[in-house]
Amino acid sequence: MSLSESDVKTLEAELSSAIDGADNLDALEDIRVSALGKKGSLSGLMKNLGGMSAEERQVFGPLLNLAKNTIAEQITARKSTLEGAALETRLMSERVDVTLPVSTPPQGRIHPVSQVMDEIAEIFADMNFNVAEGPDIEDDFHNFTALNIPPEHPARQMHDTFYLPENENGERKVLRTHTSPVQIRTMQNQKPPIRIIAPGRTYRSDSDMTHTPMFHQVEGLVIDENATMGHLKGTLEAFVKAFFEVDNVKMRFRPSYFPFTEPSAEVDIGCSFADGEIRIGEGDDWLEILGCGMVNDKVLEHCGLDPKQYQGFAFGCGIDRLAMLKYGAPDLRAFFDSDMRWLKHYGFLPLDMPTIAGGLSS
Ligand code: PHE
Repeated sequence: MSLSESDVKTLEAELSSAIDGADNLDALEDIRVSALGKKGSLSGLMKNLGGMSAEERQVFGPLLNLAKNTIAEQITARKSTLEGAALETRLMSERVDVTLPVSTPPQGRIHPVSQVMDEIAEIFADMNFNVAEGPDIEDDFHNFTALNIPPEHPARQMHDTFYLPENENGERKVLRTHTSPVQIRTMQNQKPPIRIIAPGRTYRSDSDMTHTPMFHQVEGLVIDENATMGHLKGTLEAFVKAFFEVDNVKMRFRPSYFPFTEPSAEVDIGCSFADGEIRIGEGDDWLEILGCGMVNDKVLEHCGLDPKQYQGFAFGCGIDRLAMLKYGAPDLRAFFDSDMRWLKHYGFLPLDMPTIAGGLSS
């Protein structure tokens, strides 16, 4: 038997330095197979144990086992070093710089209704109006009674109201049927002079081509000591011209009835239909766009204001229809379908905010 202790030591040293020199996982695996595999060099030396005397085996058994374990441990250690380095390289190459500008344009769009609300707020801000808000779930007093619509008043039927279940006080709240309750809340909480608009959601149990159960209105309210119907007309004319971005608009105030205004009017704007396209401003046709009037004395009283001292006007206007008219969307129901293709077509880019100076809609 020619195996010597130094043969084992030499082989171990060779393998050790080969392991240290392995610079990738494949090379390391080759070394492992060449040393510890079935036909590997260390495994080859182990085979000598069978032909040895008992004394020799006592020396070489532990020696070879030790060498085998040492090499196996070195391979494991080297493997985890190489794996760590490989991971590090990958992380470096796949690093994402979140501060770089995005190369794809933003996917989201501003809904035409939101856009129109922003435009309206911008136009009225220019005339010194503040934006007021009220809750979607209203009580009977604010939605009806304070607006001079007492129980049993026929106007309550006209509103197709959604009622909530009775609460512990036996009271049934409603989904507000118009934005007019915000008039009440504002007059209760604010001393005149008052000049607000109140855009928001409104609800009526109604659904067809031109009606959805949820829709949007904007309320306007001006209260001071001498606001007149003339101011109302001037305000609405300025609004319509700015909104439709036209210099001339024919307007018609038709006598009408609302319990909360006296006198009341419905406002139509002139328009024409040519080649399937609607033109706002001039023409022989009329489009109804809003209801308005001088705030009824009874409403002022319900809000604790003295009608001998204060007076003013109010108006209420459907926003969705304004959006349809201005941006040529034919079907109201599509507004609330959340269809991305529709939004991409009719929506607005998030950073294109409407301003009077920069152009409302361009
Ligand atoms: N609230 C009325 C409606 O929803 C509109 C309106 C508001 C009319 C203010 C006059 C004054 O039809």
